[in-house]
Amino acid sequence: MKKVVFFNNKGGVGKTTFTFHLGYALEKIGKRILFVDADPQCNLTSWVCPEDIIETAWQKDEGKTTNSIFDSIAPIVSGSGDYTVIEPYKVPDKNIWIYVGDLMLSDFETELSSAWTQVLAAQERGFRVTSAIYRLINDFAKKNNIDYVLIDIGPNLGVLNRAMLLSCDNYVIPMVPDMFSLRGTQNIGRVFAGWIKDYQLSLTRAGEFKFDVAPGRPQFSGYILQQFNKYRSRIVKAFEKWQSQIPDTISQYIIAPLSVPALAPYNLIQPSSNYQLAEFKNYNALVPMAQNALKPIFDLTAADGVVGGHMQYVRNCGDEFSNICKAFVTQIS
Ligand SMILES: Nc1ncnc2c1ncn2[C@@H]1O[C@H](COP(=O)(O)OP(=O)(O)OP(=O)(O)O)[C@@H](O)[C@H]1O
Ligand SMILES: [Mg+2]
Repeated sequence: MKKVVFFNNKGGVGKTTFTFHLGYALEKIGKRILFVDADPQCNLTSWVCPEDIIETAWQKDEGKTTNSIFDSIAPIVSGSGDYTVIEPYKVPDKNIWIYVGDLMLSDFETELSSAWTQVLAAQERGFRVTSAIYRLINDFAKKNNIDYVLIDIGPNLGVLNRAMLLSCDNYVIPMVPDMFSLRGTQNIGRVFAGWIKDYQLSLTRAGEFKFDVAPGRPQFSGYILQQFNKYRSRIVKAFEKWQSQIPDTISQYIIAPLSVPALAPYNLIQPSSNYQLAEFKNYNALVPMAQNALKPIFDLTAADGVVGGHMQYVRNCGDEFSNICKAFVTQIS
């Protein structure tokens, strides 16, 4: 089982769209998938779950059939205890589950903030709180033979994202070839390196725990080139300049700060050709159509509103994701 976070400090680069499609594509090749919506915006949740499910998850009723991820950590926020085990929502007829997101997750951030001070002081409670979602995920994933836990997070370097990053095995950076997306990667390596170094130092000082603690050894597994237009198989000129700069930007701002001896040996990244894990093309109007249908683009049919030539794009998307799955499984297994 691998836990993978999809992250970019720049918003709107297609993190959620990619994560959603990858999960459904991996399921098609026989993998068991657990989505975790750790973005308080809940975009992944609203793509996977019908509205009535989300409504139930957000109610306060005892004994309700679906819970949100916030229900699990509410005892930590209220100070009454550790996380509660909750069942994720299962997508009918698919080996896909999701821990439903919640705007209330923002309340957890205050707790995580004080927990970090305790982590730095090597105090047990800090690790307990920082690892809460990690332990929840692990527990379900191990009991249910999950192959991949795909974690969607918001576009910021805040405390919740720090906890999720330290909890994952791998992280992938979706990028759009434009100035903003490249700029958005410039602080990632430096900030991640600082988090990992501080966490590892404190872990060593803290010694043994009676609970499962987040390992804090995330591996960078490449970037996804997202959403660029292709015209007669050529990348549109405006994007070319930015796309050509991606490998150097990754090398300078992600690989270099994470490849320092202080983070060895687990964090030394093998130099690869250009760090690109996959490419996800621009599907324009098929994206909102897929959101309405609560399906990935490659599963859309005429009944969902796909007409004429668009059916070819649906098929192309299926082929594209079957290749992306192969690359992903090779890179992260
Ligand atoms: N491959 C694609 N083709 C066409 N449109 C896309 C594609 N990927 C994403 N989009 C569109 O781009 C917008 C942003 O996508 P998405 O919500 O996945 O980004 P995000 O990085 O998760 O955003 P946030 O930072 O807010 O979480 C959405 O409106 C989506 O419809
Ligand atoms: Mg998103």
